[in-house]
Amino acid sequence: MIDLPSHLGESPRRILITGGAGFIGGALVRRLLRYSNSIVFNLDKCSYASDLTGIKEVLADLGSEADKRYQLLRVDLVDAEATKECVRKADPDLVMHLAAESHVDRSIDAPNVFLESNVIGSFNLLQAVRLHWEALSKDRKASFRFHHISTDEVFGSLGNAGRFNESSPYDPRSPYSATKAASDHLVSAWHHTYGLPVVLTNCSNNYGPWQFPEKLIPVVILKAVEGELIPLYGDGANVRDWLHVEDHVDALILAATKGELGSTYCIGGFGERTNKQVVESICRFLDERLSLKNSCFSLITKVPDRPGHDKRYAIDPKRIITELGWKPCFEFEAGLAKTVDWYLANIDWCTYIRNKANYFGERIGLT
Ligand code: NAD
Ligand code: TYD
Repeated sequence: MIDLPSHLGESPRRILITGGAGFIGGALVRRLLRYSNSIVFNLDKCSYASDLTGIKEVLADLGSEADKRYQLLRVDLVDAEATKECVRKADPDLVMHLAAESHVDRSIDAPNVFLESNVIGSFNLLQAVRLHWEALSKDRKASFRFHHISTDEVFGSLGNAGRFNESSPYDPRSPYSATKAASDHLVSAWHHTYGLPVVLTNCSNNYGPWQFPEKLIPVVILKAVEGELIPLYGDGANVRDWLHVEDHVDALILAATKGELGSTYCIGGFGERTNKQVVESICRFLDERLSLKNSCFSLITKVPDRPGHDKRYAIDPKRIITELGWKPCFEFEAGLAKTVDWYLANIDWCTYIRNKANYFGERIGLT
């Protein structure tokens, strides 16, 4: 884990995080509260995928000092005026933009909300931040940064060889990745046209605690625990490059504070696996930990493929390693085993958030 004060400086920074009630944003907020003296504003519309339990636990642990450094701003970025007011209130030195609709399957069923949040929302935020940045004092203006968090999915689908890097051409193929690509282009345009000091990062699939159970890893764990069929899309040979969320948070802090302005950094955890390998590893861990009547392997079931399913994602993270000194700490199998343990210890949270979202792992995104 990187040392935060040496990157963020001694004097408290005002940091506006969008999407801090989500999976990755939540890990970032918790890290900043625990290990820095930053003043953290969490702008989030608090959607079905949001939850503040992890942040509340950290605040309870740290006491009133941390309470004073944290504020939730419950705002939808689609509302331009509310977004402007939020930025005015937070008066940030650094903005880290993670808010987005993030699930590919949902984007297939209902792409409009992805356009609204990921494109219009990012546009509204950029406009609000530009106004704020232009009005800053000379010193604050010089050190201000806007960090846009994006995905490797904007680069499309790889064949068996090669990895994405910062020069990979954009070729998004799902409604989700198309809207993320659009937001990347908006951020880049605001840098070139208005001079807004931006940094972009494109990361691979994250995993770890507190991920909403609609993404592969928590879905598989919960299905297996409940003795339900584990859905493997298509032939299970699609490849994702898994990155532990805490390694991602390290990379985000490095990129936000030390990244070259106007530049992109690709972040990946050297964790390439087929979906079948991931599912089988989870089943092995669960078989070792639970005394089930039947092995979890018997639940693995091939189901119809996702429309437009990208075959393979993989990241070459050489640039962030050599230029910013980032190093992932989690080896995938070890990180996955810890994640399985976390979900087993937090089944109550899973039940709570599934009830809150009224989503229980049913198949979506088949058009
Ligand atoms: P998530 O779905 O868990 O959380 C996203 C958060 O953004 C939610 O709390 C949601 O309420 C909020 N949000 C969405 N639209 C909003 C709006 N219009 N206004 C205000 N808040 C809004 O997502 P995540 O997995 O934490 O992903 C965070 C970011 O990282 C996203 O931008 C995503 O594209 C990117 N990313 C995620 C992954 C991954 O594997 N999870 C991989 C690559 C990139
Ligand atoms: P997902 O977690 O939705 O992330 P992304 O689509 O952003 O990569 O899916 C990861 C991979 O797992 C993807 O190739 C689709 C596949 N998958 C399944 O096989 N079964 C499932 O139930 C889910 C949710 C995903």
